[in-house]
Amino acid sequence: MEKPIPANSVCTHVGIIMDGNGRWAAKRGLVRTQGHLEGLKTAKRIVKAASVLGIKYLTLYAFSTENWKRAAEEVSFIMTLVKQYLRSEFEFSKKNKFRVRHTGDMAGLPPDIQKELTDSIAGTAGFDGMQVILAINYGGRDEIARSAQRFLEKQNQCSGSPNFHISEKDIHANLDNPDIPDPDLIIRTAGEYRTSNFLLWQSAYSELYISDKMWPDWEKEDLEAALAAFQKRDRRYGGVPSDKPWINT
Ligand code: IPE
Ligand code: IPE
Ligand code: MG
Repeated sequence: MEKPIPANSVCTHVGIIMDGNGRWAAKRGLVRTQGHLEGLKTAKRIVKAASVLGIKYLTLYAFSTENWKRAAEEVSFIMTLVKQYLRSEFEFSKKNKFRVRHTGDMAGLPPDIQKELTDSIAGTAGFDGMQVILAINYGGRDEIARSAQRFLEKQNQCSGSPNFHISEKDIHANLDNPDIPDPDLIIRTAGEYRTSNFLLWQSAYSELYISDKMWPDWEKEDLEAALAAFQKRDRRYGGVPSDKPWINT
């Protein structure tokens, strides 16, 4: 008889650090921007694959708070691609009832990107299909700092006595999207073993999966392989192995 899948091996939220566009291009003698163009096609492919696989939340790391360090041409090319993605996928999102969301510092984005993002978010807000969370101008440290700032502002505005104690619950409640469950699985492509400031708070107990393939080379089979690897993990959350409960006694 098939072993039932334990509740904590259901993968509800997947986060992807889409890395390796530049190296993909360099290997082919192409400019970095060509890699980003291919990376955009992969993002569209993987969004579709994730929804077919029953993922409820998919967070895509598209641009970090540190990526502004890159050449101005590369940065503006990426911003143009983000705009293109939002425009071209809007109808597709509506058709599939995907809900588009954002995480990151919206105020630090160029006004045209802000508008495109807010339009996509508003236009898909009522949908109950997969949620696609775009991490743009996102930094995990920045998000935690902004959360603390929001908490302080609320304390300043309260009529009674302000609360000078900040708890984990307060930080969580003031994150960009506190209703979204923590990622079960974080995937990084292009073989780097680091998080590069992605979902620092939320990834405390996420399973990590590193793929050596560059992001433009990623296919739905790679996502399936990542999910299959996830199914074999034993998520203990600081407890004891779930298949050896006798250790508890
Ligand atoms: C990921 O690919 C895309 C972004 C960070 C925007 P990179 O551009 O970082 O590609 P590599 O790491 O240089 O190969
Ligand atoms: C992480 O990739 C950011 C995104 C994928 C958007 P980077 O290429 O910026 O990360 P580092 O510089 O290799 O750590
Ligand atoms: Mg990179």
